[in-house]
Amino acid sequence: MSYETILVETQGAVTLITLNRPQALNALSSQVLADLITAFAAFQADPAQRCAVLTGSGDKAFAAGADIKEMADKPAAEFYAEDFFEGWTSKLVKATRKPWIAAVNGFALGGGCELAMMADFIIASENAKFGQPEIKLGVAPGMGGSQRLARAVGKAKAMDMCLTGRMMDAAEAERGGLVSRVVPHADLLPEALKAAQTIAAMPPLAALMNKEMVNLAFETTLDQGLLAERRMFQVLTATQDKAEGMAAFVEKRAGVWQGR
Ligand code: HXC
Repeated sequence: MSYETILVETQGAVTLITLNRPQALNALSSQVLADLITAFAAFQADPAQRCAVLTGSGDKAFAAGADIKEMADKPAAEFYAEDFFEGWTSKLVKATRKPWIAAVNGFALGGGCELAMMADFIIASENAKFGQPEIKLGVAPGMGGSQRLARAVGKAKAMDMCLTGRMMDAAEAERGGLVSRVVPHADLLPEALKAAQTIAAMPPLAALMNKEMVNLAFETTLDQGLLAERRMFQVLTATQDKAEGMAAFVEKRAGVWQGR
């Protein structure tokens, strides 16, 4: 498969996807979305692939936002008629049931911050900077920024970021709960790939269900979530991997997973 705006490689059971428009700070054009949808669909469809990492090329940016030059002259009627930005949710987030990590290597602004928040978790370089500066352009987040940021860091910081358009550095992002780990810049990709390899080596059905369970926490009441969690746990007890996992523990050996 060849792509215009991203690079894709596999390392064992891990797919590494790199946004590759460094001259535009990896701004997210419609072509980037099209390429990402194709790459994530291929990752999802390949049974040998178990976890993905998404990062940005160059040292400066993960992605500096949706492509402003593409949006500048676009009429409002077209944004509406195309349901602009909708594909990110339906074709990328919802269609990707396997786990993936965002490795944020620099600016993650506007759509870049929103794309990072679509990942299951974010590992950030010490150089990372997060922000929702859309207000300065006369607009507002359109790819989930107001919703996912508020869920990740709470109302106070989400309002602060969206209303002032200021950037948050990696340390503040970690304190606020936006990112799971901050690492020295040079360690970012090795650390993210190591985390992805760890996940890729887990029992595959359990990995899918753990992801589904945590995501459910943002969609439902506590009671309904607890019930769904118990049912998913109970379903997992019927798998061969559960029998193998528990036997391997008792026999003090590593488990060998079937994905069944
Ligand atoms: C298109 C972009 C871009 C973007 C940067 N570039 N961000 N092109 N869309 N979002 C381009 C610049 O035009 C420039 O190209 C090149 O990348 C390098 O950027 P510079 O600005 O020269 O770099 P620097 O001075 O270091 O500043 C870095 C920066 C700044 C602080 C990140 O680029 C910046 O503020 N970018 C915009 C951030 C932003 O507002 N993001 C939100 C977008 S809106 P040339 O060819 O000129 O050299 C969004 C959702 C909108 O994401 C939803 C509403 C519908």
